[in-house]
Amino acid sequence: MVESYHHQFAASTLPFGHSQHPELMEIKCEEVDSDERCLTPEPPPPMSYQQGSPDEHELERAFLDRAQNDSPISRVEIPIETSKSPYLSARGNVANIFRGSTEEGYKAYHADKYDEDKNPNGIINFGTSENKLCFDLMSKRVSWHLHYCVFLSLREEVARFLTYYCKAPAPLKAENVIVLNGCGSLFSALATVLCDPGEAILIATPFYGGVTQSVFLYGNVKLVYAYLDSKITGTNTRPFQLTVDKLEKALQDARAEGIAVKALILLNPQNPLGDIYSLAELRDYLDFAKRHELHVVVDEIYMLSVFDESAIFHSVLGMDRLPDPLRTHVMWGISKDFAVSGIRFGTLYTENQDVANAVASLCYFHGVCGPVQHKIAQLLRDRDWINQVYLRANHARLKAAHTYVTDELKTLGVPFLNRNAGFFVWIDFRKYLRTGTFEEEMLLWRRFLSNKVLLSCGKAFECSEPGWFRIIFADKTHRLQLGEQCFPSPIFPQPFQL
Ligand SMILES: Cc1ncc(COP(=O)(O)O)c(C=O)c1O
Repeated sequence: MVESYHHQFAASTLPFGHSQHPELMEIKCEEVDSDERCLTPEPPPPMSYQQGSPDEHELERAFLDRAQNDSPISRVEIPIETSKSPYLSARGNVANIFRGSTEEGYKAYHADKYDEDKNPNGIINFGTSENKLCFDLMSKRVSWHLHYCVFLSLREEVARFLTYYCKAPAPLKAENVIVLNGCGSLFSALATVLCDPGEAILIATPFYGGVTQSVFLYGNVKLVYAYLDSKITGTNTRPFQLTVDKLEKALQDARAEGIAVKALILLNPQNPLGDIYSLAELRDYLDFAKRHELHVVVDEIYMLSVFDESAIFHSVLGMDRLPDPLRTHVMWGISKDFAVSGIRFGTLYTENQDVANAVASLCYFHGVCGPVQHKIAQLLRDRDWINQVYLRANHARLKAAHTYVTDELKTLGVPFLNRNAGFFVWIDFRKYLRTGTFEEEMLLWRRFLSNKVLLSCGKAFECSEPGWFRIIFADKTHRLQLGEQCFPSPIFPQPFQL
């Protein structure tokens, strides 16, 4: 029987087809009328560039199509059974079918937009509720300081960027790119569309603790842990090594408790360890996930923050063959690699159009505004500057700061993991704990804080061994010097007494 989903939402809330919500998908490229044709009672103020120039059109484009599509249909019947995707949770399927009713019209419109000069027989958009009369005034006002170059959609730019930096064997496609306001939002959206409430995602500890709240707060999705530890034994050739055996055990334990595990999260490069997975390791993890029909969410947000040439990062998108392409979803953002965590931008690459659609439905709540999209497209496009200027400087600075901090730790006799990626060193302060408990770890954390040093303790990363701390070294030397005066010997006479 075909079940009917009769929802009360205005069709204007529906996303745009296979891509993102029309407002969030990209900077729009509809032409706008020139000033002369606007119904403006007085001439606009003089600008530093010529009216009607290509620059001006680019500027205006970033402000167009701001509103949502208003369809004449306000109540829509959607047959759930016919659209059910085996890749999505029940609520993910609902999100997936929230495209649709406006898709046909918008697709046709974007393929054949009216343009007085270039396409006089094209479609005129009388469906979108937006005021096109004052774009000229507002775009100039709000974007006063922006410089413009040739417009290309952000998603196309992201696809090209990832193809290049992830060394993809074939060009990645813009239609498989989703853009949200940060990887945190992506975790949240993915958890929601892949899992139903109470279901779980597998992750190895220690891991970047923000994932916990990202998947739980909206999605009510839990994490199941594969605990790693620092011991070197048989198959563990390095501390906190992730192996398939540990993933298998965690998965089986969770299933034995009746927990439905739907996905695996991999952080590569890993935060807080700084590990970079080898190609063979990545294949093992992906094969494991395929065997168990788990989605894999690979977070590569630190992929360009590998600061030593001896270390080689392999993106999952660079693999010749993915074991389970429709269950493999890769995310990246600019917060870390471009040192701009305040500009909220994260991107997902997935070949699974059901997952892309479902996440795109949630983009409505997590969008990146048009002018920021435009700036990011400009940034990602400038390959010469990224390669010749930015990455060279960034890697040299990261390496110098890492060397400074690790040399200090060596002098102090404090063990740590010596890695070449990310902004952090994973430090072993266990010898300063007497009984080796998390309570002591917390006391030690407070001791640092009372000495004006804020570190992150292992518990915040669900580390199974008390006494590990993460220090961020990506800072100016004078601040590193100040901070390190406080640890460990000046505050802790050896052996450490709490
Ligand atoms: C591994 C990892 N993923 C995701 C994020 C969040 O990224 P965004 O700023 O894009 O939300 C962080 C932030 O610290 C992180 O370390």
